[in-house]
Amino acid sequence: MNAMYKKLQSCLKSIREKTDFVPEVGLVLGSGLGDYADSIKQVASVEYKDIEGFPVSTVKGHKGRFVFGYVGEVPVVIMQGRVHYYEGYAMTDVVLPVRLMGMMGAKKIFLTNAAGGVNENFHAGDFMIITDHITTGVPSPLIGPNIEELGTRFPDMSEVYSRRIIQVIKNCAEECGIKTQEGVYVQFTGPNYETPAEVRLARIWGGDAVGMSTACEAMAAKHMGLEVCGISCITNMAAGISKTPLNHKEVQEIADRVSKQFAELVTKVILSF
Ligand code: HPA
Repeated sequence: MNAMYKKLQSCLKSIREKTDFVPEVGLVLGSGLGDYADSIKQVASVEYKDIEGFPVSTVKGHKGRFVFGYVGEVPVVIMQGRVHYYEGYAMTDVVLPVRLMGMMGAKKIFLTNAAGGVNENFHAGDFMIITDHITTGVPSPLIGPNIEELGTRFPDMSEVYSRRIIQVIKNCAEECGIKTQEGVYVQFTGPNYETPAEVRLARIWGGDAVGMSTACEAMAAKHMGLEVCGISCITNMAAGISKTPLNHKEVQEIADRVSKQFAELVTKVILSF
């Protein structure tokens, strides 16, 4: 059997020893939404460190656990803390948690993150519905022996982010009175922020926002045939567009400032899936 699939199965077994909860939706919390899991009706949680073989996040402020529970009547599993490529893990380990959510039963994957605005019409504090992505700056998580149990060797990526859900998000945002942008997310490795030249490159490529996560997870979820959607919180304008140097504290502050609205939108979307 494929070694990565074996690892996934042993992680799943480890989770199943703690809970038999079957989620419909898998939600990944980015900066600003870290406390979202505390607002739902929780029925169980599993610390990443208690799952054998699971990559544990090293970023300060990122918690590391799966939270199981209900948003309204919808059974969800929430990743409170994700794994980033810049932490030094193989890309296959970075996407392991998202694949696991699919193996637990989730049919839809909802990705959130903080990102830098590349589109000059954006402002710090905006929400961008991800319509597509560019992963040219990072290795594909699908490199290596294909996991046939999950998906095909050469998966189609012409609609990674479900057009159906994009419309749902737009409708929900309008009902909540929340303004949204739409655009293409460009993933770079991080952990450094981009240079102004890299940001110009992202723009020339057709990107609207830059970040250090998400697109690889979306790709792995799509490979498994899951329905994917994503929203970026634009915490800052990207390097060179922003007139001031970037720092993590500022990113966190903006993310925290809009977190209530972000949570409201996420809840509404999950209830409308
Ligand atoms: N670049 C990359 N990742 C980010 C940024 C950025 O400007 N802001 C928040 N996450």
